[in-house]
Amino acid sequence: MSEPTPFEIFLVATPGLEAGLRDEAVERGFADVTLIDGGVALTGGWPDVWRANLELRGPTRVLVRIASFRVMHLAQLDKRSRKVPWGAFLKPDTPVMVEASCRKSKIYHAGAAAQRVATAIKEELGAPIRDDAELRVMVRIEDDLATISIDTSGESLHKRGHKEAVNRAPMRETMASMFLRQCGFAGVEPVLDPMCGSGTFVIEAAEIATGLKPGRTRSFAFEQLVGFDAAAWQAMKAAAIPASSELRFHGSDRDAGAVAMSRENAERAGVSGITSFTELDIADLTRPDGPPGLVIINPPYGTRIGDKSALQALYAQFGKVMKQRFKGWRIAIITTDAGLAKQTGLPFDPPSAPVLHGGLRVTLWQTRPLR
Ligand SMILES: C[S@@+](CC[C@H](N)C(=O)[O-])C[C@H]1O[C@@H](n2cnc3c(N)ncnc32)[C@H](O)[C@@H]1O
Repeated sequence: MSEPTPFEIFLVATPGLEAGLRDEAVERGFADVTLIDGGVALTGGWPDVWRANLELRGPTRVLVRIASFRVMHLAQLDKRSRKVPWGAFLKPDTPVMVEASCRKSKIYHAGAAAQRVATAIKEELGAPIRDDAELRVMVRIEDDLATISIDTSGESLHKRGHKEAVNRAPMRETMASMFLRQCGFAGVEPVLDPMCGSGTFVIEAAEIATGLKPGRTRSFAFEQLVGFDAAAWQAMKAAAIPASSELRFHGSDRDAGAVAMSRENAERAGVSGITSFTELDIADLTRPDGPPGLVIINPPYGTRIGDKSALQALYAQFGKVMKQRFKGWRIAIITTDAGLAKQTGLPFDPPSAPVLHGGLRVTLWQTRPLR
């Protein structure tokens, strides 16, 4: 039997975190990995699509490109959409939704474009079109080039499936893991987040150290596609055997609710044995026993006028505690405000490029091991 033709797979990145995602895909052995606008392209077959969803920590979703053609007007989109081999991907009895976006193109009405493609799917394949369908076809028209993709992830990949409790301003798991990577974290040193909120950094770090796959407990949209082989997928998941770690991953927060939430999340993620969470104000933080590692925090930024002086004091306090008690540790801080980062008085390297986080632009500041 001949090998199936590989197709183009696209990993959608958080804006600003594309390069780390490319490095992760290369490290994980994917083929033809290329950095492109908005994410990372690679080639492969269905097992690569499943593995990208299961193993990669950085993408927000994994798309499969199924067609690409030039279009100048809606009638042409209608005609060309009817020629797409929908039946090679979608099942006639599985509902789909269609979303479109248009940029710098003669077709400028995204709603009309989505409707043409939806009609083609309904009439050529017979699949029902539903706005609330779990399976999503995405049409992107840019410079008069239409690209049609299927979203193989479903819910955004930052939803790991085992993290239910979140606080008010959680860091997305996809971003947290890419920031850990930017800090050079490879799972072989302890991590401490003394403003841990729902525990995102600590749990991601513990999972990386033990080789737990981020997608191990959730479902994916690809399970509804034609190429899905349930037995092969189960075998792929079962082959991923987590390792043990001698390291410890610590979180603390002054808010008792946040600490309880982090513990529950760690329990569900299966990392409660190597994580600890403590209710503690930053002023009372002490250095954990054992080797030095990475302190990483995402402190409050304060978007309201009047917050500023309290925040300056908080950042300054954090810096003081680090300098006094954390010699040998690297310190990383993610914040919107360069002035606040500087309040810490820590010897930061030049900051990273800004990353979009909940409508704000955040930057990673990091130090070398403190002396
Ligand atoms: C932006 S949230 C962190 C979110 C976290 N990265 C997550 O993913 O859930 C900031 C956290 O800092 C904590 N915090 C603020 N001031 C603190 C202090 N003085 N000591 C310890 N924690 C503090 C808050 O309780 C809050 O949980």
